[in-house]
Amino acid sequence: MMSRNATRAAGSMLLTVGPRYYSTSILRSAAGNDHVFVKKMITVASGVTGNPAGGNRRALASFIRFPVSTARNGSTLALDDAADGKQAKEEKEPETGSARRSTVGGPNEKGDFFSYWGVPPKKVTKEDGTDWRWTCFMPWETYKSDLSIDLKKHHVPMTLLDKMAYWTVKSLRWPTDLFFQRRYGCRAMMLETVAAVPGMVGGMLLHCKSLRKFEQSGGWIKALLEEAENERMHLMTFMEVSKPRWYERALVFAVQGIFFNAYFLAYATSPKLAHRIVGYLEEEAIHSYSEFLKELDNGNINNVPAPAIAIDYWQLPSDSTLRDVVMVVRADEAHHRDVNHFASDVYYQGRELKEAPAPLGYH
Ligand SMILES: [Fe+2]
Ligand SMILES: [Fe+2]
Repeated sequence: MMSRNATRAAGSMLLTVGPRYYSTSILRSAAGNDHVFVKKMITVASGVTGNPAGGNRRALASFIRFPVSTARNGSTLALDDAADGKQAKEEKEPETGSARRSTVGGPNEKGDFFSYWGVPPKKVTKEDGTDWRWTCFMPWETYKSDLSIDLKKHHVPMTLLDKMAYWTVKSLRWPTDLFFQRRYGCRAMMLETVAAVPGMVGGMLLHCKSLRKFEQSGGWIKALLEEAENERMHLMTFMEVSKPRWYERALVFAVQGIFFNAYFLAYATSPKLAHRIVGYLEEEAIHSYSEFLKELDNGNINNVPAPAIAIDYWQLPSDSTLRDVVMVVRADEAHHRDVNHFASDVYYQGRELKEAPAPLGYH
């Protein structure tokens, strides 16, 4: 039996804390747990008037943990999905890479539909009418890489800033060669974790500038974010053929922390320098992928079948191999090289990126 004070305390908490936690969770989830919630409230209330040293603290800790987890489980799921914890788990555990267990907008093996807040997504199919199986990119984002792009172009560093950019990149090459040596698959995967950062940082800073100055970006926000996404897809592809070891994951963690902040400062201070650094990084990437191709041609690396994600993303023939994938990735790097050297050149001319239309639509 609760005392009057305990009842008042429980009621007060239900009115003040309860609705706040439940406001974003959905009906079925909340209703299903009401009895547990009330039981917890009674425990709290008992603790208030009972043993203040032990029961109260335990009950309070229990209360704090309970509604947070309930609201979190329910907050991002639609009505019917919320009741099915297994389905939520399925969404977090794709079969392979980024492929989902069911088709987009279609039923899975159990006949359940994935939905966004109760609204099922449209059914997406490939050109041949078969189901689209990726959630990380859509058919309209796929493309054929331009393999005719000039791979040998090099920006000769003339100014002090260019030389700084050039030698910064060259100096980074030495520890990279030492660490990876001839493990090009692993090297490609690890370097893509870095390569996907500049586009995101540059795009983010231009986005903020556009908001701050009430002006258009000339398409450069989108162009740089596209570059970041393209680099991330390189990573998603190489993940399928090379698995990082624990210390390599730790290295990525540390390098990302340093590189993100360093590039952020560089871009905020001198976008001219930042884009030139990326231009030279891309030149090095072209070199690395050319070495990768040599190893494949010499038989030192197995020319395994191309990952399914790469076949769909670059619209490759179904019998493509790792060599075909490296070819298209290298062409992408050449495109990034051109975009970034061009962006740096725009600043060198004393102009801003918004004045030069961004090279959109390549990807
Ligand atoms: Fe890349
Ligand atoms: Fe690149």
